[in-house]
Amino acid sequence: MIIKDKVVIVTGATSGIGEACAIVFGRAGAKVAITGRNQDKLDRTLLNLQKEGIDCFGIKADAGKAEDNKAMAEAVLGHFGKIDILINNAGISMRALFEELEMEVFHQVMDTNFWGTVYATKFCLPEILKNKGTIVGVSSINGYRGTPARTAYTASKYAMNGFLEALRTEVMKRGVHVLVACPGFTSSNIRQNALTANGNAQGASPREEGEMMSAEDVAEHILKATRKKKRDLVLTREGKLAVFLNKWIPGIMDGIVYRHMAKEKDSPFK
Ligand SMILES: NC(=O)c1ccc[n+]([C@@H]2O[C@H](COP(=O)([O-])OP(=O)(O)OC[C@H]3O[C@@H](n4cnc5c(N)ncnc54)[C@H](OP(=O)(O)O)[C@@H]3O)[C@@H](O)[C@H]2O)c1
Repeated sequence: MIIKDKVVIVTGATSGIGEACAIVFGRAGAKVAITGRNQDKLDRTLLNLQKEGIDCFGIKADAGKAEDNKAMAEAVLGHFGKIDILINNAGISMRALFEELEMEVFHQVMDTNFWGTVYATKFCLPEILKNKGTIVGVSSINGYRGTPARTAYTASKYAMNGFLEALRTEVMKRGVHVLVACPGFTSSNIRQNALTANGNAQGASPREEGEMMSAEDVAEHILKATRKKKRDLVLTREGKLAVFLNKWIPGIMDGIVYRHMAKEKDSPFK
């Protein structure tokens, strides 16, 4: 696929992987629309994109609200006149034992990660069908393998993968490309903003962020996979290994994953 002059929407693009996607798709010649819940962060990101010479547009929108997604699609259509590529990236994580987790937090994670993807795709699909465009879901290795103390996050990513696989097959004869991108651990604000049992942000990452893949590298992989119309993208050596081993030795993986995650700083289980 040629990216130049395509109109790309990146949800949750004021930080991390989303912001990096806005930059790399913009550098490749796309016109970029970005969303986020915070106007100051949106303005700062738009300024950075403009400094790169990228034709960009920002919409304040909460991914978890149907009406915000409808308004987003209408605003982008009004501004750029079409929609070619939707990158469903807006996401939030959590860390707490399920037995202690307030159900409101579970809903919040599902609303942003899963329903955000469903709503944005619903309102952009007519345009993407018309233009034979692309839908990207920024999922996770947790879309293949669950992690203890990340029940809501894992559920949201499995749900994204299932939704997008079904949709891909539904539209396969109509020229629409659906990519499920599953990054491994990536340096960003996701762990700092992850919700605890009562919905407060945990405030600090329990992992060594400097040792992870960079958001820019993830975005370059997503750009390449979009150009090549790939079906799936699984990132990091550790992530690829986890997906492979979980397919063939899931029982043994339960123990490996438990021990690995129990070693995290302030892990809620030992
Ligand atoms: N980092 C990783 O290790 C990793 C691994 C695998 C998958 N992922 C996935 O990658 C995606 C991006 O995460 P990231 O690591 O880049 O995290 P991040 O740095 O925390 O960025 C998340 C972005 O999403 C936005 N956002 C959060 N809730 C939103 C909502 N309700 N509506 C609209 N925007 C919202 C945030 O902006 P506002 O808060 O201003 O709204 C921010 O721009 C997520 O879907 C995540 O699950 C990340």
